[in-house]
Amino acid sequence: MSQTPSYYITTAIDYTNGKPHIGHAYEKVLADVLARYHRLKGENVYFLTGVDQHGQKVQQTAEKEGVEPKAYVDEMTKGFVSLWEKLGLSHDAFAETTDPLHVACVQKILLNLKEKGALYKKAYKGFYSVRQEQFLTEKERGEDGEFGSEWGEVVELEEENWYFRLSDHADWLREFVTTSDFIFPEFRKTEVLNAIEKAADTDLCISRPKNRLHWGIELPFDKEYVTYVWFDALINYISFAGYEKEAGSDLPNFNDLWPANAHVIGKDIMVPSHSIYWPAMLHAMGFSNEEMPQLIVHGWWNLKASDGKSEKISKSLGNVVDPVELIEQFGVEATRYYLVRDIVTGRDSDFDPERFVDLYNKELPKTLGNLLNRSLGMLRKNFTEGIPVLSHDDEESSALRSLATELIAKYRDAMDKNDVPTALKEIYSFLSQCNAYADKKEPWVLAKDETKRDQLATVLCHLVEPVALVSVLLSPVVPTACKRIQEQLKAEFLADINLDDLRWGLLESGHEVGKAKPVFPQIALD
Ligand code: MSP
Repeated sequence: MSQTPSYYITTAIDYTNGKPHIGHAYEKVLADVLARYHRLKGENVYFLTGVDQHGQKVQQTAEKEGVEPKAYVDEMTKGFVSLWEKLGLSHDAFAETTDPLHVACVQKILLNLKEKGALYKKAYKGFYSVRQEQFLTEKERGEDGEFGSEWGEVVELEEENWYFRLSDHADWLREFVTTSDFIFPEFRKTEVLNAIEKAADTDLCISRPKNRLHWGIELPFDKEYVTYVWFDALINYISFAGYEKEAGSDLPNFNDLWPANAHVIGKDIMVPSHSIYWPAMLHAMGFSNEEMPQLIVHGWWNLKASDGKSEKISKSLGNVVDPVELIEQFGVEATRYYLVRDIVTGRDSDFDPERFVDLYNKELPKTLGNLLNRSLGMLRKNFTEGIPVLSHDDEESSALRSLATELIAKYRDAMDKNDVPTALKEIYSFLSQCNAYADKKEPWVLAKDETKRDQLATVLCHLVEPVALVSVLLSPVVPTACKRIQEQLKAEFLADINLDDLRWGLLESGHEVGKAKPVFPQIALD
C-alpha cells in the first residue's frame, strides 16, 4: 500500500465515433478540477481518462468511410487527445480500449468468470436495436406497443450468445445501492433502484457473433464471438489501474489505487451500464462492498436557445458548441472556469455565452485581477523593503482575517462534496469583501499621510494576503493563471503547499513581491 492516501479518479471514456463538444469538455474539466483538488490535499492521485474504441457504430462508420476501424479510431482519438491538451488536463494515464494491455485484461476476466460459472451460452430469438447494440425485451415497448424512436432501427434476430448471470447479483445490488454512497448525488438513487427492478430477472448478453460484429475483443473461449462493447469498455477502469497485470508491466499497482476510487460520468450512462452491469461485474469478480467505486454522476450541458428555452446539444440539430472554438475565443482559463462554475454538479444547465462573459469578467478580472493589481502596485510603491512588519490592527482587518479562515473551511466542505460552483461562489464573495475593505480603508489616501504608515501597512497586507490564499484555492480550476499570480507574488512555494497548511500569514514580513501584470484579460462577445 502507498504511504499517502490515494485518490483514483476516472472519467467516462469517450466514443471515438463523434467529435467532442462542450458536454465532453465539461466532464473532463470537472474530473481534472477534482483530481487537482485531491492533489492539493496531499493525496496520491491517479487520474485516468480515455477513449472507447470498439463496437458496431465504429465498425459501421469506418466501413462507410472505406478505412480500417483501427485507422479510423486512431484518427478520431487524435481529436480527443488534442482537446484534452488544450483544456490543460492533468491526467496521469490515457485509456484506449484497443491497447493490448486492456485486451489481455478483459480476456483474463472473461476466462475467470467463465471458470466461476458466471457465464453461459444460449440461443435467443428476439428484437434487436441496431443503434443501441442490444436485444430488447417486452419492457422496452412503449404504451402503443411499439419500440420507441430512441432504439432506432429494430430487427428480429435469432442468435446463440454468451450471457453473464447478472440476475444472481440483483438482491445484493439493491441492498448495496440502498445502503452505500455508491451513487452521488444521492437523489439519483431512486432511478437506479427502479432500474434494478426492471433488470433484476434478465441476464446480460455479453457477446456478439463475429459475422455481425468483428470490431471487438475476441472471447478467449469461443473464437466466433467478440465481447459486447460495454463489457469491454467498463473494464478500462481497472485494466489501466493494473488489475491482473502481467509481470513486468509498468502499469500501477492496483492495490495502491483501488478502492479510493470515483468514476465521473454523465447521467445518461448511469443506468444500466455503470450502476447495474458494472457493480454486478465487479461483484462477480469477487470485489467486496468496500471495494466498490463511487459514481459521481453529473448532469448535462444543454443550450439556451434563442427563445430562451433549453435545447439538447445534438449533431442533428447542428447546435454543437465546439470547445476548441471557445478556448480560441475566450482562453482556456475562462472556458474551464465557466464550465464548472455555471452548473450544479449532478444537475443540468443551459450554456449561455452572455452568462459566460458576464460571470467570468465579474468574478475574475474585475475582482481578483483588480485586487492583485491594487495590492502589488501599492505595496511596491510604498514599501520598498517588502512586506512590512505590522504594528496596527483594527476591527475590519481582524474581520477580514476571520473571513479568510471561514473561506478555507467552506471551500473544503464544498469541494469534498464535489460542489465546485459553491466553492467558487464562496471565493468570489470573499474577494468582493476584500475589495469593499479596500474601498472603505482607502489606502491611496492613507499613503499621502506620513503619520498613517502603520495603518497603510496593515491595509496593504490585508489586500495581498487574500490574493496569495486565493491563488491556492483557485488553482484546481484555473491552474495557469494561479501559477502566474504566484510568480508575480514571488511566492512560487505556494504551488506545492498542502491545503492543510493553508492559513493567513503566507507572506512573511520582508518578502518582496513582484510587478503586477494582467492575468485575467476581460473577454467580450464578438
Ligand atoms: N463511451 C461511452 C462511455 C463508456 S465509459 C466505460 C460514452 N461515450 S460518450 O462519448 O457518448 O459520452 C462520454 C461522456 O460525455 C458521458 O459521460 C456523457 O454523459 C458525457 N456527455 C455527453 N454529452 C453531454 C452533455 N451534453 N453534457 C454533459 N456531459 C455529456 O457514453
